[in-house]
Amino acid sequence: MRFNPFNPTQPARPDFFVGREPEIIAFEKVIVQTIHSSPMNMVITGNRGMGKTSLLVKLEQLAKEENCLVLRLSNYEGNLTNIPDFCDYVTSNLKREILSKKKIGEKFDKLKEWMATLKPTIEWNDISVSIEKKQIIQEIFRQRLLRLWKEIEDDFKCAVILIDEAESLEGVKGGLLTFIREVFQRIESEAKYCIILAGKFNFTERMSESFSPLNRFFPCHRLLVLDKESIRKYILQKLATVNVEIDEKAIDHIIKNCEGHPYVLVSICYLLFDSLNEDEKHITLDIIKRSQEKIEYRLGQDFFSPMFHPLSPKAKEIIIKIAKKSRILEFSFKQAVEWTKMPRNYLSPYFKELLRKGVIDKPERGKYKIFHTLFLHYLASKEELE
Ligand SMILES: Nc1ncnc2c1ncn2[C@@H]1O[C@H](COP(=O)(O)OP(=O)(O)OP(=O)(O)O)[C@@H](O)[C@H]1O
Ligand SMILES: [Mg+2]
Repeated sequence: MRFNPFNPTQPARPDFFVGREPEIIAFEKVIVQTIHSSPMNMVITGNRGMGKTSLLVKLEQLAKEENCLVLRLSNYEGNLTNIPDFCDYVTSNLKREILSKKKIGEKFDKLKEWMATLKPTIEWNDISVSIEKKQIIQEIFRQRLLRLWKEIEDDFKCAVILIDEAESLEGVKGGLLTFIREVFQRIESEAKYCIILAGKFNFTERMSESFSPLNRFFPCHRLLVLDKESIRKYILQKLATVNVEIDEKAIDHIIKNCEGHPYVLVSICYLLFDSLNEDEKHITLDIIKRSQEKIEYRLGQDFFSPMFHPLSPKAKEIIIKIAKKSRILEFSFKQAVEWTKMPRNYLSPYFKELLRKGVIDKPERGKYKIFHTLFLHYLASKEELE
């Protein structure tokens, strides 16, 4: 069995990471500012498979090289549902990270000991009476963060907290993002922390339109498609590890087909490599054409189907109708009304759902875009559910 250098199920390894220069520059700025006691933060947003987790892994490596203490967390499946849990989660993980850097035994006991010194977490169920409680929780969290910073200030330049799958923090009762801003803004002169959130945020669109305090605290970077040169570099670097060559025409074909979408790119490469015979060491356009059918079918199964199936029945019906009529990715709301024969106000909530689930994008007012041509083909080949 041949080793396949491509793996769409894992975030990119930092040494094979390509592109994203603007985001990396922005991050380096965040670090420098934070080190000089003028912290900055950032939000990274992007649709499914656009490379958010990969970017966080890359930023983690960069920050470690700069001698920062890095904590990378993920709110996987939205486990954090309230503010006190969030505070406990961040502080206990920070402590764990600090202990893991120290060359002492019995780390677990140390952690337990430390956790026992924390004031008991306050129940905070009734948000109507929350102002004072919120202030108390803020104060406790602030004190913990300051104490932790004191433990590391001689060894690290700053502490970087990276939180993946952070979109679910938006929905936490009582406004977690505002809470985070309030806490971290108040400690900026005493401790060097910065926070990077990544996720499929809904608030960023709203935020980018208004110059809100949250927007200023969390400048938002939306991940767009990878550029051609980055894709080319990625393919060549990966294939070089297994001594396989590829024609320029074949690279161009992949660049065109993946449309710069990182997950689609890696999947295409994975399935293409998987289609090589044991003795094949050179990828040509013919080989790509030979495996085209399999690639599209498998992308449908692995990527498009899990995006399509959670949609509500009406949203499915609408997007299939649109895909069957539209030859290209972009369409207007007016066209959607025409094609579906459904009135505007009826369509509206389903468009919100399609946007929220990343099936379509909204490049400008009244204009929509299906996120990938191969997804358009997938939808257009579906039976209409009447
Ligand atoms: N900059 C990059 N360089 C190389 N490979 C990348 C890059 N960005 C993403 N990839 C690849 O694309 C795929 C998807 O990336 P990743 O898992 O980081 O996306 P994501 O936005 O976190 O997805 P999800 O929305 O599902 O959490 C992975 O296989 C990863 O290896
Ligand atoms: Mg991810």
